[in-house]
Amino acid sequence: MFTSIVRSVRSHATGHIRQCKTMSAIEAGKKAAAFAAVDENIKNNQKVGIGSGSTVVYAVQRLAERIKNEDLNIICVPTSFQANQLIQEHRLNLGTLETCPKLDVAIDGADETDKDLTCIKGGGACLTQEKIVASCAKDLIIIADDRKDSQVLGTTYKKGIPIEVIPMAYKPIQMKIQDLFGGEVILRMAQQKAGPVVTDNGNFVLDWKFSNPCDDWDKCNTTIKLIPGVVETGLFIKMAKVAYFGTADGKVSKRSV
Ligand code: A5P
Repeated sequence: MFTSIVRSVRSHATGHIRQCKTMSAIEAGKKAAAFAAVDENIKNNQKVGIGSGSTVVYAVQRLAERIKNEDLNIICVPTSFQANQLIQEHRLNLGTLETCPKLDVAIDGADETDKDLTCIKGGGACLTQEKIVASCAKDLIIIADDRKDSQVLGTTYKKGIPIEVIPMAYKPIQMKIQDLFGGEVILRMAQQKAGPVVTDNGNFVLDWKFSNPCDDWDKCNTTIKLIPGVVETGLFIKMAKVAYFGTADGKVSKRSV
């Protein structure tokens, strides 16, 4: 009895250590990608779109270091409440699309990136502002750990394509997408709040778990966007110029279209 408890405690501890290692390896990949992207793409006097998510945290960290060390003049335009807070926490110059409607570059994470750099974004429910900001930038630079690098969407990110919708329309949109394309469309529920996730824009998010990858994402995206009540989709097509993927040992591979 005692032996089995000891064994179970040991194996639990080993599992925990293994899990911690895995987590830090993923973080190392995110950091390597973010640092390389900021180092290679940010120049003085630029207006920069700041994406959302955990990888962008490293990009803002590096950007703040470079601004301080090199005395750069950079204006940062956020894609979410989180990005806004990050910019302010690092005491960077905060801009808006009203003051800076044209951006030099936007740096953002992705949930998955395929061979053409078509991305699934919106795992953090910030897809709409991310797409608006990216559309105002000359270049969209994607940063991610190498789990996000795939040939075909749906290979590594299994949660589906996020779609931001006007709350009153979520049910008919759910049914229309399922009827048109199959698969399952799920209303994203909050983790520490009763009810659905509410975006920074006051909307809901549907996750479309498609059964088969579409052979024309562009067409599929347009069809979904035309459904009344759809605000935006998390499909970023022909938007990313280059993607940086970091590995656990700090190596970075770069893919461009
Ligand atoms: C936010 O809504 C998303 O589009 C993020 O950019 C994406 O989920 C990547 O996030 P991580 O950097 O946390 O993986």
